[in-house]
Amino acid sequence: MNTVGKIIEGLAVPVIAVNVNLQVLALNSLAEQAFTDLKDTGGFDSFLSRITGLEPLLLSTLDDGKTTTAKVKPKAGYRSDYNITIKNIGAIDGVESPVLLMTFEDRSLSNDLKAMRIGFVANVSHEIRSPLTAISGFVETLQGPAIEDVAVRERFLGLMAKEVTRMTNLVSDLLSLSQVEAKKRRDLKNKVEMRPVIEQAVEATLPVAEKWNKTLTVEINGILPAIMGRQDDLLRVLINLLENAIHYSRQNGHIHMVACVDHGENPLGCDAISVSIKDDGEGIAAKEIPFLTQRFYRVDKSRSRNMGGTGLGLAIVKHILVRHRGELVIESTVGQGSTFTIYLPLALDEKINPS
Ligand SMILES: Nc1ncnc2c1ncn2[C@@H]1O[C@H](COP(=O)(O)OP(=O)(O)OP(=O)(O)O)[C@@H](O)[C@H]1O
Ligand SMILES: [Mg+2]
Repeated sequence: MNTVGKIIEGLAVPVIAVNVNLQVLALNSLAEQAFTDLKDTGGFDSFLSRITGLEPLLLSTLDDGKTTTAKVKPKAGYRSDYNITIKNIGAIDGVESPVLLMTFEDRSLSNDLKAMRIGFVANVSHEIRSPLTAISGFVETLQGPAIEDVAVRERFLGLMAKEVTRMTNLVSDLLSLSQVEAKKRRDLKNKVEMRPVIEQAVEATLPVAEKWNKTLTVEINGILPAIMGRQDDLLRVLINLLENAIHYSRQNGHIHMVACVDHGENPLGCDAISVSIKDDGEGIAAKEIPFLTQRFYRVDKSRSRNMGGTGLGLAIVKHILVRHRGELVIESTVGQGSTFTIYLPLALDEKINPS
């Protein structure tokens, strides 16, 4: 391998070096993986023919000696679109000047991010539009003779209040999500005792459970050592999971929460606190489980909407757990119920007390 070959092998993007006759002098393994036909019979000619506009770019860089940057879209056979930079690096290793270095920056990641942003805005608009459409329909009706009918008026005002609650929930969930995303890991400098957090979460959700005729029991096994984190975020995680268990369990259903220390037999592979929330609801099909933490994903949209749900609760849970270096495990059997378990690593200087 020549000197330029050794140097470009150390770079984290595909790189190809060519001479003045457009012959390949060196390419790194990332370039070999991205453009597999470079090593085949067609070699560089076949490569050039697949990337529209690349050859004229190389020739113009040879002519004027300037660095050129352009977006290129391979015709077929290559996986990604690239931003390509061509730089004249002069003479190397006894190869006379100019030597051109082509660097390829994969654009699929930024394209994916763009698609995500567009999808997110479309989802938010859709979620806001449906309650707005409903409210404007009710307002229109009430502007007519229906305003005189007390029963109709009361019913419509009730429905309007429900739609307003939906929009309020959506906005506060969106705010929580953006706040969680904006916070940095270094914020996790405080020790948090989980017992009071669990107790507060139960206190906050008991009235909801009573409203829907569900029972809620809690078991805290042994002394729970402290973890590093933010108390209000951890409270949000537990409230979201408890509310889901209440909303999606069967009539007169039962929710059981268990908290204990877990000695490394968990996805984190270290001593952790585990809190599991088990319900006896209708359960979730295995194929749905991987999507539950995606924003706006709901198994049964109309049921979730009826509960004032926005489909953001588990996305918020997931983000908070990632920041806490924790994990969420979802187990479910259709017809029997679901268990959502969170694992949070113990603070480094915490000792496990025998229970
Ligand atoms: N315990 C559960 N049992 C059955 N399905 C559940 C359970 N928890 C969540 N789900 C399903 O996962 C979906 C996503 O839950 P998530 O908490 O993200 O949103 P949501 O409850 O619909 O709305 P919200 O933003 O108000 O929490 C729910 O709509 C529901 O279909
Ligand atoms: Mg929810």
